[in-house]
Amino acid sequence: MRKFDLQGKVALITGSGKGIGREIALQMAKAGARIVVTDVSEESGSTACQEIRSLGADAVFIPMDISNPRDVEKAKELTLAIFGGLDIIVCNAGITFRRDFADLTPEEFHKTVHINLTGTFNTIKGLLSPLIDNGSGKIILISSASAYTGSGGGAHYSATKAGQIGLARTLAKELGPMGINVNCIAPRTIVTEILDHLYPPGPSRDALIGQIPLRRIGMPEDIANAAVYLASEEACYVSGQTLLVDGART
Ligand SMILES: NC(=O)c1ccc[n+]([C@@H]2O[C@H](COP(=O)([O-])OP(=O)(O)OC[C@H]3O[C@@H](n4cnc5c(N)ncnc54)[C@H](O)[C@@H]3O)[C@@H](O)[C@H]2O)c1
Repeated sequence: MRKFDLQGKVALITGSGKGIGREIALQMAKAGARIVVTDVSEESGSTACQEIRSLGADAVFIPMDISNPRDVEKAKELTLAIFGGLDIIVCNAGITFRRDFADLTPEEFHKTVHINLTGTFNTIKGLLSPLIDNGSGKIILISSASAYTGSGGGAHYSATKAGQIGLARTLAKELGPMGINVNCIAPRTIVTEILDHLYPPGPSRDALIGQIPLRRIGMPEDIANAAVYLASEEACYVSGQTLLVDGART
């Protein structure tokens, strides 16, 4: 029997065409939620949506670039028209690349902030009203351990991931009285395309395992399981927190 039940809930996950977001969408569907897959990539978004439907779950794909508030508004309208409500928002979409601060251009810094942090703001700002109308809801931000360690590619990235944690803490205070929980998950070293860019498979990745007390690199399921818990009623008294899911590395 599955412990954390999301039966009857509608969950929208940003950047859920691939990687961690795709797995969160799959695991939330397995827990009974109806799923709105959103991604800037139509190809991976529709493929992920098909995979979820093949489990027998209800899912739609809505193209959405989190850096564009009009896309978010459209996604809200379509979600309400198709599913009649929204209960769970997962702000997962994000980018990174390796750059030392000395070589980081203002354009690269602003682009990362525009997607990772302003995109998170756009997503919550644009999708929040149905949760307020319900007087309940769960918002989960996929931050990163780099908010603490300064890793993950460079200052452009860690600054945005730390910014998400600040955003979540304030929202937990402001939205708590409206019945809405807001939490972050801080993954570290999870096997996805982002990790492939930062640590291509080979000796540099093998060396990482020695730095992880649980002696394995994380899988998207490790993050998805934490997200299902935070979205469930069992986590109803947890808000304003950041859950490190990192094999004790940090
Ligand atoms: N993989 C890790 O080790 C790791 C560690 C810490 C934090 N994270 C965080 O987890 C989240 C997911 O990362 P991942 O490793 O699955 O990455 P990924 O590159 O595998 O997937 C990211 C997804 O986001 C989508 N995306 C990118 N820009 C977008 C935009 N503007 N609008 C909508 N969608 C967009 C991509 O198309 C892709 O489907 C990110 O926020 C990342 O910072 C990952």
